[in-house]
Amino acid sequence: MAGLAEIRSTFLNYFKKHGHEEVKSSTLVPSNDPTLMFTNSGMVQFKNVFTGLESRSYDKAVTSQKCLRAGGKHNDLDNVGYTSRHHTFFEMLGNFSFGNYFKEKAIPLAWDLITKEFSLPKERLLVTVFHTDNEAIEIWKKYAGLSDSQIIKINTVDNFWSMGSTGPCGPCSEIFFDHGSGYEGTPPGEDGDEGDRYIEIWNLVFMQFNRDSNGKLNPLPKPSVDTGMGLERIAAVMQGVNSNYDTDLLSNLVKSPNNLLKVNDAISHKVIADHIRSVVFLLLEGILPSNEGRGYVLRRILRRAVRHGYKLGARSPFMSKLVDCLVKEMGEAYPQLAQSKKLIEDAIHQEEKKFFSTLETGISILNKEILELNNKLIPGDLAFKLHD
Ligand code: ALA
Repeated sequence: MAGLAEIRSTFLNYFKKHGHEEVKSSTLVPSNDPTLMFTNSGMVQFKNVFTGLESRSYDKAVTSQKCLRAGGKHNDLDNVGYTSRHHTFFEMLGNFSFGNYFKEKAIPLAWDLITKEFSLPKERLLVTVFHTDNEAIEIWKKYAGLSDSQIIKINTVDNFWSMGSTGPCGPCSEIFFDHGSGYEGTPPGEDGDEGDRYIEIWNLVFMQFNRDSNGKLNPLPKPSVDTGMGLERIAAVMQGVNSNYDTDLLSNLVKSPNNLLKVNDAISHKVIADHIRSVVFLLLEGILPSNEGRGYVLRRILRRAVRHGYKLGARSPFMSKLVDCLVKEMGEAYPQLAQSKKLIEDAIHQEEKKFFSTLETGISILNKEILELNNKLIPGDLAFKLHD
């Protein structure tokens, strides 16, 4: 069974073999973009290359990019724990063309990787395309031999990807994997809940426009390609599991609080396993918990995890104890983790300690007031005090 690390390197090596420059993941805090709070996808570090403001020595690249989707246009924080696939932190595998190739090559490259290198069965794959993109439809038919029923036309923003309210964007074609009739769900584009059956594994964006602050779409200097495949999702497919949290790396992180807290609770464990990654990788970049901006997002993520731990009975810091497991799981791909381990553990411990005492105080106020309320509604000023 291919583990996460092997899948990551198969992806990178495949595109290197096809002439792509391997570029390191950029930081979670975008260095070139005041419009974004966090790097939310692989293309962020290349934004100015797409728009022509910056040129590089290569016109094709491949990355495994650390991403954070908590705050800003792409924000999944409140979903984490309640689904099998949402994350605040995840890694996005992607290949990029800056005017070198467009759809005619992006689709064949993607198809060969998933059907040959990753050996996914063709009959379990389907794709979506932007409804007017006849060119993409033809390539999927001709190169991949997909039938009409495997190509679904979508006429919504689901198939028109944008980085944020401004910046590069374009129509996209998403590849879905059918996890089988054992799972509930309808194919993309159909009414009803997409559920756990049909899962998007790869998004191929045909970058063509730069959206300005008036919302106008200006053509990019050259048609380009930006793709994104969630490493945790493709790992789930290749490891024969439905939930990302059952893949090798995340399942070890899920077991970790279980060992520590001795209570099994699927939702809380997912929250904790996901949030420890965001917290650690933000601290690694020097972000500290605070009451504003990025530091506030970090504080919210950590506190959300602590509340879940509290629910499971934790009354003293436990998140800092999970850093060890995370370093074991991800230290090879990110060697800075081991170097900063102690500092990260201390920072988490301090913040947790403070929050545990805030929680104790808040909960004792709440319990006292509930007794006095006699089943009446909680008044606004009390709700405000507790939130504060
Ligand atoms: N940038 C595209 C995405 O995040 C590939 O889905």
